[in-house]
Parts: sequence; C-alpha cells; structure tokens
Amino acid sequence: MIFPIDKFSSISTPFYYYDTRLLRATLAEINRCTASVPFKVHYAVKANANADILAIVREAGLGIDCVSGGELAAALDAGFTGSQIAFAGVGKTDAEIEAGIESDIFCFNVESLPEMEVINAIAAAKGKVARIAIRVNPNIDAHTHKYITTGLNENKFGINLPQLNEVVDAALAMKNVELIGLHFHIGSQITENEPFVMLCDKANELQDQLEARGVKLSIINVGGGLGIDYSNPDGAPIANFEQYFGIFKQHLRLRPGQELHFELGRAVVAQCGSLITRVTYVKTGIAKKFIIVDAGMSDLIRPALYQAHHKIENISAPAGAPTDTYDVVGPICESSDCFGTNEVLPTTRRGDLIALRSAGAYGEIMASRYNCRKFPASVAL
Ligand code: LLP
Repeated sequence: MIFPIDKFSSISTPFYYYDTRLLRATLAEINRCTASVPFKVHYAVKANANADILAIVREAGLGIDCVSGGELAAALDAGFTGSQIAFAGVGKTDAEIEAGIESDIFCFNVESLPEMEVINAIAAAKGKVARIAIRVNPNIDAHTHKYITTGLNENKFGINLPQLNEVVDAALAMKNVELIGLHFHIGSQITENEPFVMLCDKANELQDQLEARGVKLSIINVGGGLGIDYSNPDGAPIANFEQYFGIFKQHLRLRPGQELHFELGRAVVAQCGSLITRVTYVKTGIAKKFIIVDAGMSDLIRPALYQAHHKIENISAPAGAPTDTYDVVGPICESSDCFGTNEVLPTTRRGDLIALRSAGAYGEIMASRYNCRKFPASVAL
C-alpha cells in the first residue's frame, strides 16, 4: 500500500487511515462474486462502524448485520433501511427488541427460547409479526483463536442441535413471530475451507430434517468468518471471495426461491485500514531496542487480547535504509501493550510514522479510553 504521507503531516497521531479505493474494490469483488446467485451479504457492523465506512458499504448495496441497539442506530443513521438489517446477539434487551420491531428489520437471529418468547410478546403488544431465523450452534470447530470460536457446544451462542426441533415447534406455534430461516456463525478469522464445507453439510442435513417435518425456510444465513492475511497485507489485499463463495455454491443445496445470506465483517474492511502512529522515543535496553509509539492497546487491542500480529511498517524511512531489530511498544502501563517483538525495521528515529497494517476490522471500534487516553481519530481518503 502506498500511503499518502503528505496528507498525514497535519493529522495528530494516532489515527486510523482508511484507503477508500481498496474498500470500494473489495466491495465490488464481493458484488461480482455474488451477482449471478441468490446470495445476499450483510456487512457485520461490529467490525467497524465508522460513518465513512458505513456510507461506502451502503453505496455498494450490502445489507447489515448488527448485534446491539447501538449498531442498529448506527446503521439507520448511515441510511440503511430496516429491511436491510439482521439483528443477532445472545442477550438482546427488551429495548433493543422494541427498536428492531419498530424499525421493521428484516430478521432477528434468535439465540434462545426465552428470547423468542420475548420477541413474540413485544411484537404482539405492537400488533406486528417479527421475522426470525433460529441461530443453530452446529458444533463445528473453526480452527481459530479460542476467543473467536463460536460454533462449539461449549460456546454460549445459538441453539444446540438436540434442542432444535423443540425450538422450531415453539416458533411455529407463536402467532407474532414468523420463522423464515436458519442462522449459523462458527467463528472468525477462519483461513481453511474445511470448516465452511462442514457448515454446508450441516445446513443441508438440518434442512432435509426440517423439510421432512413440513418446515419450509426462505433463507439460510451462514454468518461470517472469512479470514484475511495479516502477515502479508499487500499480497492479497482483497480476500479470495471467489473461492469462499464458491464453497457455498458447490456445497450448499439451496431450494428454489431460497436465498443464502452472509455476515462478513473482517474480510470486508480489515485490509483497507491502518493505525498510523508516531515514534515518541527509540530506547536502548540491555539486550533490546524499543520503539515506543504514541498508539497503545487502547487504540488497537487485538495484539494484547488475541496475541494477534499486525504487520508493522516504518512509512517515513527512505527505501533501502539500513535495518535494525526492535520491540515495538505503546505507552500504556501494561506489558501486554506491545505490537511486536524482534521486528526487523529500517533504522527508526523519533518522529517517524509507523503503520500497523490490516487494522480496519476490530480496530477503531474496539478502542477504549484506558489510561484516560483520547479515542484515536480517523481519516478516510
Ligand atoms: N456474524 C456473527 C453472528 C458474528 O458474531 C460475527 C463476529 C460476524 C458475523 C462477523 O464475523 P467476521 O466476518 O468479521 O469474521 N474481535 C475479534 C473478532 C470477533 C468476531 C465476533 N463475531 C477480533 O478482533 O479478531
């Protein structure tokens, strides 16, 4: 990625930089791969709710997957209509359900029987019928970090398989919910095909079972989870959507008139974003040199929380500069406030700009005010 460094000098660091050309190209590729099939992609707002990003996602015609009243409001503020929005989450409050019903959202992804009862009651009180999909926990291992695996029996998400028939029967008996589909989401940053193939097989099996009981569904929603390449962001800045959607084209047996829905977050926005930070000090320790930058785990928590590594680049250093080995750390009073150890980088000086790459997803949105720091700014160019 070529960074517009001349434009960066007037912006105070740290800030998130979004390359809108890459975002648009990514969205165009998603649309190209889904154009000739009844596939509908909902952007998972949890990855990044920046208003500039949401505006571009909306222009591209994607729908929205939200998981809170706040995300619902962010989507509506960005101009999405209720009919484009699916609402997931294990702990939707009454107020959030009311907001969803009032906005006439496309669908609630229901995660438990008590939640379905509350949706039914609130819809009845408003004289409405709420569309729902049942989120199934398919007990599939996504082979990803344990904090972002969601589809195993031990996880809190969805309805476990042995309970599915009971919940389907309950939905059919309720007057103010309309069961339109099944929903799955097995985890995030999935870099192998196999979990998605297993998901297709499971969806086929459950559809067959439900059909045998006379239940017809208009949608299947397979969630999100497509991973990206953190180690080489410029190698394939646009994820392999052709291959990803191809798995579902090949393996998932859709019924005539049925739509297949997706909820992609990371693969849509991760690579277009970088956290830009300035070097405050270069400090020589006993056996190490430290680059101390002005961004910390409050701005980008993924390394501290998931042991994630975002590629680190010195974007001020001239090409071909000699290199040195550094630990790159933030200013926060925790040892986990570290972006990289033994990083080989061009010789770095106070004042240089550093880019932490692939930070467009789960970066800005997970920022906190820890240490009473300011939220990072953002710029979309
Ligand atoms: N649908 C549901 C129901 C989800 O829970 C998620 C993500 C998605 C869709 C979008 O998944 P994606 O396409 O982005 O993988 N903060 C973590 C990731 C947490 C993902 C939570 N759920 C991280 O920084 O890696």
